[in-house]
Amino acid sequence: MSKDKVQIFDTTLRDGEQVPGCKLDTEQKLIIAERLDNLGVDIIEAGFPISSPGDFASVSEIAKIVKNATVCGLTRAVKKDIEVAAEALKYAKKPRIHTGIGTSDSHIQHKFKSNREEVLERAVQAVSYAKTFVEDVEFYAEDAGRTDNEYLARVCEAVVEAGATVLNIPDTTGYCLPEEYGAKMKYLKENVKGIEKAILSCHCHNDLGLATANSISGVINGARQIECTINGIGERAGNTSLEEVVMILRQHPYLNLDTSINSRLLYSTSQMVSQKMGMPVQPNKAIVGSNAFAHSSGIHQDGVIKNRETYEIIDPEEVGVTESSIVLTARSGRAALAYRAKKVGYELTKVQLDEVYKEFLKFADRKKEIDDADIHEIVSSADVTIQS
Ligand code: KIV
Ligand code: ZN
Repeated sequence: MSKDKVQIFDTTLRDGEQVPGCKLDTEQKLIIAERLDNLGVDIIEAGFPISSPGDFASVSEIAKIVKNATVCGLTRAVKKDIEVAAEALKYAKKPRIHTGIGTSDSHIQHKFKSNREEVLERAVQAVSYAKTFVEDVEFYAEDAGRTDNEYLARVCEAVVEAGATVLNIPDTTGYCLPEEYGAKMKYLKENVKGIEKAILSCHCHNDLGLATANSISGVINGARQIECTINGIGERAGNTSLEEVVMILRQHPYLNLDTSINSRLLYSTSQMVSQKMGMPVQPNKAIVGSNAFAHSSGIHQDGVIKNRETYEIIDPEEVGVTESSIVLTARSGRAALAYRAKKVGYELTKVQLDEVYKEFLKFADRKKEIDDADIHEIVSSADVTIQS
């Protein structure tokens, strides 16, 4: 049975770049945009063109060079924003304007000092105006995670009627539980007239560590686009992590959902974005962290050496990591030591291994992690004769 495609909307260069200290210049953005295009993302959100001349220039240059993906620019529900975004996107092969407004009562009262009817009207006007420039218009209902479902459905219905092709349902504050976010998507799918003319999109923030879980719950309940960033970077605790959602869908084929991402480029893309943004990847980060395929306890190492699948659900090569690593620490056992010793040229008999292991434990209690040079030192201090 063929799988339903989930579009990957990458917002590393817009929501991701909003992170303090992660600012990129146009040249750096162009390099990342080209890599995202090669990675296979469907949409690149290149920036917020009205926000600064630099951002305008970046969106405009990205629009010129991207070959496959749709290039998207963010706007508020403001005429001038939309005009500037349309100008920045004029050279894109596939341009998309992403416009919207806050729909939660909190945003309506405190940000706009307005009311639901006026906000609905502004939403419709923004989409209708954007439609005069481009065919592909995505509408975001900011803070949809805390927006009353009935009102949200009314707004969605009105903007679809005005021509929106994608409905972005952001959990802007990272508040929702996966069941709640999934139920919201289901509600919209069942209650918005004309919904078949638009794609529902998940845009989740990670304030409670639930961005990935919420996005997956969203697609299980009918959404067909996920908005995400490389390494999950983004405002506050970040956005949904691209590499996580891609690999979750791939590891669970019974969901019948997949993306067009070339997963073998995930690790190198993660490294590249981390370096360009000066934002380190946490070692225990799923999929792309330096420890994601590293095994350090004796029990796990013994299992992985016998058969990788005992403790690994993903073949590291699938995400562009050359191999799993067996890290030698004082918690490692003989199997791990023999494995690493063999890699640096020592084929140890059982008796030799027992002797070398005694030496190893003394060494490992002093040093956190044993490297290849240490193995040579340990073997030469052990009371054995070994041909290397
Ligand atoms: O988190 C959010 O609501 C956003 C919108 C502007 C799409 O980033
Ligand atoms: Zn966001």
